[in-house]
Amino acid sequence: MSTILHIDTSVLGGYSVSRQLSAEIVARQKTLHPGATVIYRDLVQSPAQHLSDKHIAAFQGAEVTDAELGADLAAGGAFIDDLFAADVIVIGVPMYNFSIPSQLKAWIDRVCVAGRTFQYGANGPEGLLPKGKKVFIASSRGGQYTGDSPAAFLEHQESYLKAVLGFIGLTDVTIIRAENLSRGDEAKSAALADAKKQIASLA
Ligand SMILES: Cc1cc2nc3c(=O)[nH]c(=O)nc-3n(C[C@H](O)[C@H](O)[C@H](O)COP(=O)(O)O)c2cc1C
Repeated sequence: MSTILHIDTSVLGGYSVSRQLSAEIVARQKTLHPGATVIYRDLVQSPAQHLSDKHIAAFQGAEVTDAELGADLAAGGAFIDDLFAADVIVIGVPMYNFSIPSQLKAWIDRVCVAGRTFQYGANGPEGLLPKGKKVFIASSRGGQYTGDSPAAFLEHQESYLKAVLGFIGLTDVTIIRAENLSRGDEAKSAALADAKKQIASLA
């Protein structure tokens, strides 16, 4: 049976485009993989703590006496377990200030762990997540960063996320994108319709 890991990161709740699209991708995946189980992580409602000196000390064997830190360390471990368990990973990710939401960055800082999800070998870094996992990114943004857009050089959202996922071994990444969302109702409707068409045609 397949396992789908569904992660949302937009702070806009019910108004979020990336949440709407990530939910549609998961629904499509459930159709394609009947009986799939879904692990859902809302990184806004249940955020990971930012990596801190206390986390590093704990990783190096310091005794953990702070219950909140202990719970957060356990959550960080569970985030890594999620990635190993999942066959399909769906991440809803808006562009914030040309990059990703800080909640997602905090999650990344907890799942990129040497010896667990990557290692440095003779040929440089190597991702340790098993091959064959598929990733779908539901990307939303107000402006346009594709094609010959003059803002293309400011695109550090999809490109960063793809790079860091590849670093831990997740290289099969499909992006479903809705951009130009801040350019009026017509542009927004067209972007949404196009993204939904792409989702419906996912095989
Ligand atoms: C805090 C914040 C920062 C944003 N920064 C950018 C940006 O740098 N570039 C851009 O094109 N849109 C930006 N936007 C617009 C969002 O990317 C756009 O509204 C998108 O739909 C948000 O995704 P969501 O609907 O899933 O929350 C920003 C929105 C917010 C709330």
